[in-house]
Amino acid sequence: MIVGVLKEARDGEKRVAATPATIEQVRTLGYEVLVDPGAGAAAGFADSAYEAAGARIGDAVAADVVLGVNAPGPAQLDAVRPEATVIALFAPAFDPAMVEDLGRRPFTALSMDAVPRISRAQSMDVLSSMANIAGYRAVVEAAHEFGRFFTGQVTAAGKVLPAKVLVAGAGVAGLAAIGTAGSLGAVVRATDPRPEVADQVRSLGGEYLSIASPEVEVSATGYAKEMGDDYKAREAELYAAQCREADIVITTALIPGRPAPVLLTAEMVADMKPGSVVVDMAAANGGNVVGSVKGGRTVTENGVTILGYTDLAGRLPAQASQLYGTNLVNLLKLMTPDRDGRLVLDWDDPVQRSITVVRDGESAWPPPPVQVSAAPAAPAAAPAPAPAVRKPLTAGRRFGGVALAALLLFLAAGFAPAALLPHLTVFVLAIVIGYYVIGHVHHALHTPLMSVTNAISGIIVVGALLQIGHGSTVVTVLSAVAILLASINVFGGFAVTRRMLAMFNRS
Ligand code: NAI
Repeated sequence: MIVGVLKEARDGEKRVAATPATIEQVRTLGYEVLVDPGAGAAAGFADSAYEAAGARIGDAVAADVVLGVNAPGPAQLDAVRPEATVIALFAPAFDPAMVEDLGRRPFTALSMDAVPRISRAQSMDVLSSMANIAGYRAVVEAAHEFGRFFTGQVTAAGKVLPAKVLVAGAGVAGLAAIGTAGSLGAVVRATDPRPEVADQVRSLGGEYLSIASPEVEVSATGYAKEMGDDYKAREAELYAAQCREADIVITTALIPGRPAPVLLTAEMVADMKPGSVVVDMAAANGGNVVGSVKGGRTVTENGVTILGYTDLAGRLPAQASQLYGTNLVNLLKLMTPDRDGRLVLDWDDPVQRSITVVRDGESAWPPPPVQVSAAPAAPAAAPAPAPAVRKPLTAGRRFGGVALAALLLFLAAGFAPAALLPHLTVFVLAIVIGYYVIGHVHHALHTPLMSVTNAISGIIVVGALLQIGHGSTVVTVLSAVAILLASINVFGGFAVTRRMLAMFNRS
């Protein structure tokens, strides 16, 4: 079969559905590839680069499998062959007219934005890959508008305080924004009604602002639900206070199937400092910020810039094309089970069923729901829902625990032989010191910490080396085994850390 890569019909779209690198992967599945002339030019991929990757330049719409980023234009759709399969972002959930139009056409249409957010579909999850890029770009856009550094500095000309960034909504886009703003040196805070994201926020160096409301609970689906009045009132208090302090606010709040929740009112924006920047990433879905304009930039009377750009991922066209193209390659791998260049639509596969808008000219939209489960659902008979957040120990319980441990220690010390006492003391001290040291190490440093603690078993190597020449075969064999196992532990720890650090190596 021939896979065609369309030149995007939508004005201003710079992304393309395949890059030279992804085309090489498509060809390994047995397909020939045809690319529209100039399809990748706006993303920086010349026709010659596609040819060098093994593609032909020609009329891609005539192919058996037609790949696009956005829905193809009407003329392109008219030119698709009846038995072909078109794969693009048709947005069927938001565009009933498009669903109706596709329903009248003879071919098969698959929509990448309908990939369910389940673990096995992650490699095809276009919404996540685009939201990740968009979250990064939202910070870059904000930094461009903001008249100051993000990072704090002490210079000969005076001290510069770091910018304060608030991220509302810690989903895919929000986490990308937290990481990016943090890496630029800003002080980042974030909030989200799903308490399970708190650790993710912290692991990216952000501070999680929790909202103390009985409605807050761990999500069973990975998505937030519509919150009630109590939560909304408390949330409004938090945003009002944060807006007075923050230099940059990035809003990414989304509840699937509903208009975007309004988080920042006009009064809150009016309270922000002049020169502050708000990026409303949800502007396309109605907006999280009163006063944001879909696709536009506005400046309020008090000098706050509000960005409502809806093409943030497309503003990094080469990166977005590469990730989108890779998502498509992963779908093609799934749909080409024999790697023989033949596309097979498996109707029993929930991922393939979910993305099918039209199958051989028959409307298949909407698909049956897919059970998405980020956290294990509570059993039906469970008497009470799981606690929202782990409560810290009360002072009384903590004291009781310490008293019990002390009692046990005294008992052990009273009955243990005298030779054991120094070892017992060292053991207890090690527990106490270890608890406090490890408890205060940042999440990001846990792996290097692991390798260092593994290296402590080097003491076993030393002990075994002292014993190995003892003379007894049993002792020699045991020492050799001890040296082997402890060495695996020591070197394994360092090897894992090295691999992890290599992930941060820019070269
Ligand atoms: P997501 O579903 O991964 O994250 C949304 C987050 O909002 C969830 O963590 C949810 O718990 C949180 N949330 C819900 N209600 C909230 C509230 N009242 N306060 C604070 N947080 C709340 O979605 P994703 O993929 O991160 O996308 C986020 C938004 O960015 C969406 O609206 C999406 O359409 C938009 N987007 C915009 C782009 C652009 O170019 N402007 C590009 C890509 C995505």
